[in-house]
Amino acid sequence: MQRTIRLSLWLAVPLALFIPAISALAQSGGGAAPPAGNPLALNFKTPDPAHGKEISQSCQGCHGVGLASTNTDIPGLAGQHSSYTRLQLAAFRAKLRPGEVMWQQAANLSDQDIADIAAYAGGLQPGPAWKADDEAVRAKGEALFHMGDSKRNIIACAICHGDNGRGDDRLGVASITNLSPKYGEEILHEFKNAPGYGIPHPDAMRIILRPMNDDDLKAVATYISSMQK
Ligand code: HEC
Ligand code: HEC
Repeated sequence: MQRTIRLSLWLAVPLALFIPAISALAQSGGGAAPPAGNPLALNFKTPDPAHGKEISQSCQGCHGVGLASTNTDIPGLAGQHSSYTRLQLAAFRAKLRPGEVMWQQAANLSDQDIADIAAYAGGLQPGPAWKADDEAVRAKGEALFHMGDSKRNIIACAICHGDNGRGDDRLGVASITNLSPKYGEEILHEFKNAPGYGIPHPDAMRIILRPMNDDDLKAVATYISSMQK
């Protein structure tokens, strides 16, 4: 897509700043001792999805059967990239990501538990797409997602999340297809309004969302929830 290619040129600088830090976090683990003082660096051996399945039974009450959410407020975990799920659970456990419900849920998970759950969830089929209530809002979101709006300095989401919305496991970019619609809108507001988390991933989103208003956030949240994987 011509427009996307042009936009990606002026995104090269912010991406060059974010990606090394993102990759460093996403790649950590695999046996090496975590650097002292970094609560997001996990130390784990080859993940065991069968163990992840066993210990994530308790999660299904909220995140849905097969971790595919049917609750518009709660994100599904099925089909999410394991690097992203690991980072979120580490961030909840360290209370770096807001969300007291999840602080409790993550408190007693070991690094290995986190890796096992993330591997299990990543191998599941994402839930079905949500039906958009308002087709005009969805269409606006679709345009912003794929093209951005250069007059308003809005970058196309597809540059990082991909045209299919599936993100990138290696870079820790979340898959956002079929995301529960109310949760999607809330998390975008949370990213936008947060003072800065001090960890690179949400900071990337915070900066991207700066030029967008409430209607824009509703539109893109509506669109991504309705995407097919
Ligand atoms: C009582 C309900 C509840 C239970 C039980 C629960 N969660 Fe959550 N979880 C939530 C809510 C609500 C959120 C959204 C938090 C927010 O506001 O950002 C969430 C968010 C998450 C996220 C972030 C997903 C994303 O897309 O960013 C992960 C990962 C997660 N939960 C994993 C788990 C795991 C693993 C378990 C079981 C050990 C679990 N949750 C149990 C309610 C729950
Ligand atoms: C510069 C790259 C980049 C761009 C552009 C970008 N994102 Fe993201 N996005 C990320 C990264 C990295 C994460 C993971 C954040 C984290 O780890 O907390 C993310 C996370 C998200 C999440 C959270 C998913 C979840 O399960 O909670 C949503 C929703 C999202 N992005 C939507 C969008 C939308 C909509 C746009 C366009 C307006 C967009 N993103 C543009 C990099 C980007």
